[in-house]
Amino acid sequence: MRGRLRLPHVPQRANHRLAPHAVAPLSVRHPDRVLVVDFGSQYTQLIARRVREQGVYCEIAPFDLDAATLTAFAPKAIILSGGPETVTGDATPRIADALFAANVPVLGICYGMQAMAAQFGGQVTGSSHSEFGHAKMVVHGDGDGGLFARLPPSLNVWMSHGDRVTEVPPGFAVAASSANAPIAAMVDAERRLYGVQFHPEVTHTERGTELLRRFVCDVAGCARDWTAASIIDHAVAHVREQVGDGHVILGLSGGVDSSVAAALIGRAIGHRLTCVFVDNGLLRKHEAADVRAVFGDPASPHANVLPVNLEVVDAADRFLRALRGIADPEEKRKAVGRVFIDVFEEQARQHPNVGWLGQGTIYPDVIESAASKFGKAHVIKSHHNVGGLPERMRLRLVEPLRDLFKDEVRAVGLALGLPEELVHRHPFPGPGLAVRVLGEVRAEYLHTLREADAILRDELFKTGYYYRVSQAFAVFLPVKSVGVVGDSRRYAHVIALRAVDTTDYMTARWAELPHDLLAAVSNRIINELPEVSRVVYDVTGKPPGTIEWE
Ligand code: XMP
Repeated sequence: MRGRLRLPHVPQRANHRLAPHAVAPLSVRHPDRVLVVDFGSQYTQLIARRVREQGVYCEIAPFDLDAATLTAFAPKAIILSGGPETVTGDATPRIADALFAANVPVLGICYGMQAMAAQFGGQVTGSSHSEFGHAKMVVHGDGDGGLFARLPPSLNVWMSHGDRVTEVPPGFAVAASSANAPIAAMVDAERRLYGVQFHPEVTHTERGTELLRRFVCDVAGCARDWTAASIIDHAVAHVREQVGDGHVILGLSGGVDSSVAAALIGRAIGHRLTCVFVDNGLLRKHEAADVRAVFGDPASPHANVLPVNLEVVDAADRFLRALRGIADPEEKRKAVGRVFIDVFEEQARQHPNVGWLGQGTIYPDVIESAASKFGKAHVIKSHHNVGGLPERMRLRLVEPLRDLFKDEVRAVGLALGLPEELVHRHPFPGPGLAVRVLGEVRAEYLHTLREADAILRDELFKTGYYYRVSQAFAVFLPVKSVGVVGDSRRYAHVIALRAVDTTDYMTARWAELPHDLLAAVSNRIINELPEVSRVVYDVTGKPPGTIEWE
């Protein structure tokens, strides 16, 4: 269907655990809503993404959410996630009564199913037959039109459990079995309660997505109207309602999130949005010009979809001065952050009528920063959402992407008419090239790095590899090595190339770029940049490395 969001394949990997109380309050802006109740599974976010892929809006809430929040959210269906605990223990999470009292279809996955079985009078046993990985499952079905109705008699599913349900509660029937989980699925069609021991949200489970779709659409009757177009309509209406006739200022970095946020707020309030783009001198080649071309040029093909005022502040000298003599990575980050806030604040002061700060915060940021309060998540973006700025400037926040996953942000960006290259660009750290010139940052090092990075990107685009890796860049190493170029000796610096594959940027694998592509990049760097005598490729994963070198 046109406008339907298509999310890319997501490998099944631990993301991060969501702490109780992590995400609240829930949004009630979208008509048909599904609630994903988190019991601490590594797959909770994946369940939510799979539901949204079906064009149905959902949110994640902790298992102990309060009844008033649940009533206000009024979900049309509830999905209970898996979790690391065991229902055979006393002090482990239980399903709140309010969830069943909501009288909507409930699907329990893994721990969610076990908790449901235990609470309705079935039996759950700590098993010596734990199952991890692929399993063959025999489907008995649950009658015509049931959740399991159109599935083949045998399916490959993904299991990951120690405990298992050994006796279904009264009123339930067994809908599927595997060798180690004779009750691999259970159904109480009358009360619309369903449990699956396997994980339909992971791609290793055959027809798993179909099962989730049938649950939210056929069983619960949710409309599939969570499309890029409807997201835009909702967000635009919400921004208008929130801001009224106020003015918004937004720090535009040229990255995906701030650009899409700018485009959305711009669509909502037009020229009452001012975007400030700070050229900190730590950007990639042509970056400032590209941002100007997309957002600041009235003759640009995007000008009609991006009705914003763009103010470009050239502060390169200030940033370089602040970085002079500093070699420590954390000190460098702090210096860049500090100058950014100063420059942005000075610019904002020229707009005394501004009462709002626009930000490109997205749903994983919300989950991450909430969870980090409980020490459970690793926060990767310290600079990204410029902490402290709103309080310091006494501005209120407008964050139109707060409910969206990255893929949805991209779909919205494209639907708003942002150029493909911008919407699919690789992430770029807030401190920019300052963390890619190792040690002290100098203007001449930045120049060399910018040129080397441009060559790498050029070759990646030419070969189509730019969009096949998650992130790729060059790093400047301020050490000298001896080389021979033509007939002369060259004693010059080293450039490291880095390319990684990842979905969440918390773990990553180094990308296996073709040798001839690496050779072409290396040749061009040595031939075009006399300041470089050697090019190396980084073959470190994360962990143990980080993606950036500093
Ligand atoms: P690391 O180096 O921590 O990077 O493995 C993970 C991802 O985060 C990006 N990154 C940053 N982004 N401000 C940002 O907005 C920062 O200070 C920052 N440091 C790293 C990095 O490029 C990668 O995508």
